[in-house]
Amino acid sequence: SMIFLTTRVALFIQRSQPSDSTYYAGVVEHMEAPASITSPRSRTIYISNEFQRIIASEEAKDLDIIVFPEHVTNYKETASFVPHGSQNVTPCYQTDYDLLLIEISCAARAQGIYVVINLIEKEICANGSGSDTFDPCPAQGIRYFNTNVVFDRSGRVISRYRKTHLWRHEYDSRSVLRQPDVATFATDFGVTFGHFICFDMLFYEPAMVLVRDLNITDIIYPTFWFSELPFLTALQLQEGWSFGNNVNLLAADASDPAGKTTGSGIYAGRWGRLQAEIFAQPTTRLMTARVPKKDRVQQLGDQVEELFTPQLITPRMTGVDTYRDYNVDIFETVLLEADFLEVTQNLCHGTFCCDFSVKRALTPGDITADHLTYRYRLAAYWGDETTVIRVDRSEQAVCAIFACKDESLLSCGSIFPASGGQVANKHHFTEIKINATFPAAPRGRRLIMPSTLDGGFKPIAVSKFNWEETPAPAAKNPDKETRVSLNLIRPQNDLLTFAIWANYYTDLASSHNLDHMQPTTEGVAVPTTPTSGASSMVLTSAGLLVLISLVSQF
Ligand SMILES: *[C@@H]1O[C@H](CO)[C@@H](O)[C@H](O)[C@H]1NC(C)=O
Ligand SMILES: *[C@@H]1O[C@H](CO)[C@@H](O)[C@H](O)[C@H]1NC(C)=O
Ligand SMILES: *[C@@H]1O[C@H](CO)[C@@H](O)[C@H](O)[C@H]1NC(C)=O
Repeated sequence: SMIFLTTRVALFIQRSQPSDSTYYAGVVEHMEAPASITSPRSRTIYISNEFQRIIASEEAKDLDIIVFPEHVTNYKETASFVPHGSQNVTPCYQTDYDLLLIEISCAARAQGIYVVINLIEKEICANGSGSDTFDPCPAQGIRYFNTNVVFDRSGRVISRYRKTHLWRHEYDSRSVLRQPDVATFATDFGVTFGHFICFDMLFYEPAMVLVRDLNITDIIYPTFWFSELPFLTALQLQEGWSFGNNVNLLAADASDPAGKTTGSGIYAGRWGRLQAEIFAQPTTRLMTARVPKKDRVQQLGDQVEELFTPQLITPRMTGVDTYRDYNVDIFETVLLEADFLEVTQNLCHGTFCCDFSVKRALTPGDITADHLTYRYRLAAYWGDETTVIRVDRSEQAVCAIFACKDESLLSCGSIFPASGGQVANKHHFTEIKINATFPAAPRGRRLIMPSTLDGGFKPIAVSKFNWEETPAPAAKNPDKETRVSLNLIRPQNDLLTFAIWANYYTDLASSHNLDHMQPTTEGVAVPTTPTSGASSMVLTSAGLLVLISLVSQF
């Protein structure tokens, strides 16, 4: 087991001290209010009560910090003003805020726990007041943000962060600051945290600014993630991002698996996950872990190795809906033979080349004609004709092996459904070696991470692979060409993805089909047409269409 676990056990001190080598963190995967509760006010009250119940629960006792997910708390009708950390406000007794903010402030104080929630914030912007945002002040004189709020142990608001990278239709109804918030807060246990929200994880500002420029080692991450195969399912991205940056990450996701959203965890950078779960059914669950402080613990003890047994049938996650990454259609790919046992291949996309060596062995057991088995493709790509989750333009460099349902490229990026036949691991993987030289990033904007996934929608444990960077660490040398190798060092029964995935954080603008709200490269909003009344009507109907299609999707 890991050595840092032993330090605080059997002590009666409830709170971690700056001198401790760990702190005690919780993340909550949380369902939305039940559909039977219909009014925005009743739904917000329901969630507030649930959060208070969790904060006061026996399982949360002794936590130093607890994190709740994005987008499940409130509505425009119940939006709250949110004080800035510098205003020194404790909503529990300075009550000019929505009930949600007041009650969570009181709950944080009652239990003496740092609490992070996400909500819809409102701000008065009439007559030129309020923040500097890309979009103009709406006629009602109030604008809305997607905001994280951090309460300290006394219920005081000590940090606020307004989401920078909205997800598609959010632009319809939420504002974005012209200068992104870079939000950090110090704690009484000696750790300084940074925080951001959901889609922000795929962009440089402010996520990478926190890590690279401010040396923040602990990140808080409320999210409402839409999983995408083969590279961007929830735990896969969370663990990969934490690993790539070697920072601690506390990720709390909402829970709506049929709507693609689930997957929360606590990650310790190169030491991998301390806790992580993804759920087939809507679930509310507190997950906790003692998190090793990055500036204290230099290495972990031996990890417990599970003995490997080749297994024809292994548990599969089939309850999470996923997007398919259409980027793979323009990747350079090679379909591997159905029965291959050994393959070596150098595969290039333009000047970017990935070197692969993959070995498999037959899994003992009776395979029948009714069993389904995945086919695999090798893939290489470096370019900027890609998007992330089909919303923003991206530049990626990728070396991957991923699962496909048949010979067609279109069948890569989705899994066999729960019904229609049992999936068998006719072969198990005994070796996978991938390496490539990742080009220098002109402005130092690059993050190279492992992107791995098994049939249970969990990443391959860090003890099962070697990751090498030359020169190391890659994260500190983004302006240098970097050779990265990823080697599977333990056999693996099932596999959906095994890849090196690099984000080059393109500056190319995305239009989101809501062009007038978009920042241009000069940092000013694109002017609307002279008849602004008419254009805002067009926007409203487009927004309604998006809403209607979302409703029908769920
Ligand atoms: C904005 O200015 C108008 C005209 O001076 C005034 O009537 C209105 O109350 C102001 N609104 C706010 C929110 O200050
Ligand atoms: C971050 O760390 C680097 C290297 O140790 C140091 O030079 C820099 O001053 C630090 N920056 C901040 C904001 O602490
Ligand atoms: C990776 O790189 C090393 C050293 O450059 C090389 O010897 C090896 O064959 C490469 N390929 C694989 C699949 O490991």
